[in-house]
Amino acid sequence: MESSGPETSSPSASNNQQDNTCLTSPKSDQADGRRGRRWMGTAVDELRRMPKCAAPLPHLKVSPNHCVMIRTDLLKEGDVPVPYPTKYRDAWDEQSVRMPCSEKNLFPVESEDGNAFRSRWGLICEALLSGCKSSLDIRDAILRYSAGHAKRWDFTALNVLCTDALAHSEVKQLFEDLLPGMVRLALSAPQLCTQPIPLLKQRMNHSITMSQEQIACLLANAFFCTFPRRNYRKNEYANYPEINFYRLFEGSSPQKVEKLKTLLCYFRAVTGPSKPTGLVTFTRQSLTSFPKWESSQTELSRLHITCEGTIEDQGYGMLQVDFANRLVGGGVTGNGLVQEEIRFLINAELIASRLFTEVLDHNECLIITGTQQYSTYSGYADSYKWKESHTDNTPRDSWQRRCTEIVALDALKYRHFMEQFQPDKMTRELNKAYCGFYRSGLTSQYLSAVATGNWGCGAFGGDSRLKALLQIMAASQSGRDMAYFTFGDAELMRDVSDLHTFLTDRKVTVGKLFRELKQFFNVVCKNCSGPRPDVSLYGFLYEQITMDP
Ligand code: APR
Repeated sequence: MESSGPETSSPSASNNQQDNTCLTSPKSDQADGRRGRRWMGTAVDELRRMPKCAAPLPHLKVSPNHCVMIRTDLLKEGDVPVPYPTKYRDAWDEQSVRMPCSEKNLFPVESEDGNAFRSRWGLICEALLSGCKSSLDIRDAILRYSAGHAKRWDFTALNVLCTDALAHSEVKQLFEDLLPGMVRLALSAPQLCTQPIPLLKQRMNHSITMSQEQIACLLANAFFCTFPRRNYRKNEYANYPEINFYRLFEGSSPQKVEKLKTLLCYFRAVTGPSKPTGLVTFTRQSLTSFPKWESSQTELSRLHITCEGTIEDQGYGMLQVDFANRLVGGGVTGNGLVQEEIRFLINAELIASRLFTEVLDHNECLIITGTQQYSTYSGYADSYKWKESHTDNTPRDSWQRRCTEIVALDALKYRHFMEQFQPDKMTRELNKAYCGFYRSGLTSQYLSAVATGNWGCGAFGGDSRLKALLQIMAASQSGRDMAYFTFGDAELMRDVSDLHTFLTDRKVTVGKLFRELKQFFNVVCKNCSGPRPDVSLYGFLYEQITMDP
């Protein structure tokens, strides 16, 4: 059913979103009498969501491209999954995560012949069990097994959190309960993460399924910066995101304190009495063949577009796009604080992907199924603030995973605005989005709608109107409908919805649209000397398709 939105603002305003009520330009609203529309196109309730549209899930089992870190035969709803194998098995090589508890994780010590080493894990245990009564104690503990960084690492944000930002009772709870719980969690790595974790390298199509408890153990180690060889960018992990949290502790920006509050909220949940008992699957998908966009006969899918709400709130059960960096998680452990970093903070289990996901290539994406939302927030970027803990009641599938499927897609970053209209750049974005939306062997009925928005149009400088079209094309080609959140931009909502209606009324195919986009580049962009096209993309498309449908 195509219709316009309700005349009043939709009730979906959530406590998660910053105040992004639709910014309407009164003139255009009054002109076409569309005041107050909050959504347009297909009603969101008509779009497919998980678990309702899910295909039957095969039994969870190990396979050559699926590492499962728990006992599948003992998997039972509500029970804490049992790590597999029972006894810790180490792998200190280029294919696996180098674990801090590996006996090969050695620390040079003074000796006569100058080449004595001792287990760094022993040192880590000693340092963390010595008890932390203040942020300075946390710093001292971390620097005991990271001595080489003593001069470089700065713990200002951690100090500010513990001395200024938290109430006295919260500081007391932090040092008496939470931190000891996090230490226990981190030091239980040999009992919890008992099998080698494979690195998800480029060109691999591979999945890792682990328990939320195992993820919590890994993230507690990241908090205490125990992962070896991950503190320099110039080594075998140069192509991997940072995982140790040391950059979260540094600097005096208030945003760092808000990020730390969000992560402590997560750690309270996973060390508390009702710790999560589910699983999470991380899948690297690397496609080698793509649609021939120019000759596609596929017609456009349905579109729900709204200027209110957010992907994470209103897009529940849909395939939710993470506007990613090629190093997944972007600046979440550093200074970044826009869409991807916020998602990685409120669904903190996403951060574990940084431990083993090599930089994404143009034909790759990372799909994470099962993460839980632990916090709500307000604001965005500089105004981001942790709000409160969140109880996530998203249903779980038969693998005990929350039915939350997030796909990390890194858009291209444009130095010059016009660059993005080049056919090869449009093809790259179409392929990237298609790689994220495509699921082998699943027909449309089993595919949830994509929940997305201005992908690549913030920090990466893309054009929302172009990106919206490219995403609709990729979603259509992969058999999915789309819910598009314009993040408060009512004009964008109207423009995209109107063009989508115009195109679907005329049964314009993905191929025809792609050819017209190329035409726009050849006719308009190639002859344009300014920084932006001097003809509107949508105006060009209306004209072209009216003349030659
Ligand atoms: N829901 C829907 N839309 C959102 C949301 C949300 N929760 N958050 C932000 N947006 C919209 C805003 O309009 C924003 O300008 O998406 C736009 C793009 O967001 P960015 O995060 O700037 O995405 P992008 O331009 O792709 O930049 C990606 O930023 O977060 C880092 O690690 C990421 O390096 C990468 C870069």
